[in-house]
Amino acid sequence: MSVRIMQGDCRDLMPQHGPFDMIVADPPYGDTSLEWDERVENWHHLAVQCLKPTGSIWVFGSLRYFMAEGRHFEAAGLRYAQEIVWEKHNGSGFHADRFKRVHELAVQWYRQDAAWGEVYNEVQKTNDATARTVRRKKRPTHTGHIEAGHYVSEDGGPRIMRSVIYARSCHGRAIHPTEKPVDLLETLIRTSCPAGGLVGDFFAGSGAAGEAAIMTGRRYVGTELDLRYAAAAQGRLASILPLGAAA
Ligand SMILES: C[S@@+](CC[C@H](N)C(=O)[O-])C[C@H]1O[C@@H](n2cnc3c(N)ncnc32)[C@H](O)[C@@H]1O
Repeated sequence: MSVRIMQGDCRDLMPQHGPFDMIVADPPYGDTSLEWDERVENWHHLAVQCLKPTGSIWVFGSLRYFMAEGRHFEAAGLRYAQEIVWEKHNGSGFHADRFKRVHELAVQWYRQDAAWGEVYNEVQKTNDATARTVRRKKRPTHTGHIEAGHYVSEDGGPRIMRSVIYARSCHGRAIHPTEKPVDLLETLIRTSCPAGGLVGDFFAGSGAAGEAAIMTGRRYVGTELDLRYAAAAQGRLASILPLGAAA
């Protein structure tokens, strides 16, 4: 299986390693004054250039990040598809006078020159339906054309996964201060990258998305600017790859 983390700037290294079936991007949000938390500019259009027309980009961020940066995604030729909320078991509280923050967002974008119907999209299911019959008579006007129909669900049967996804954060065992959970990344990869497809990870950090790619049988290329994290991520992936596979 081809899995690789390169040390360096994603803007220099990633474009020539595509085309990617799916891109994961977890850039510094720029929400704090911490030294490493600086927004990265001019990567959006490079990501679009190396994304397959059937591909999509999942970007992690806070609402504040997307309010500040949203226009760059659109200017780069991307269209908003949907977002999920990652609900953590504990939070990062910067303020004692506000709600304890226990969530982050991941927003999916696809190319403006592609139709949503062409984008690879394997809807995820969970086996926790309750028994009911739903008849859909009219199409809701705000979501475009939806055929009339009905479905019957059974207790414990499959239903479409909810957009608020609980996953334990990596506190206490993390390689990186903003490490994302592998199980959450596996869900996004299964949704947006075909089996055996290529995942591009622009801001690899600890290599969590690389581990998720290995676990789901996808190929992976990531970049990480920081030497220490790049080395730690390379070690992490080498330790879970079958003996003899290149990292
Ligand atoms: C939010 S963290 C990513 C964490 C990662 N998703 C994980 O689960 O471990 C962002 C990372 O991007 C890296 N970074 C910042 N600018 C970069 C650039 N231009 N190219 C590649 N990596 C960059 C930072 O060093 C940092 O480790």
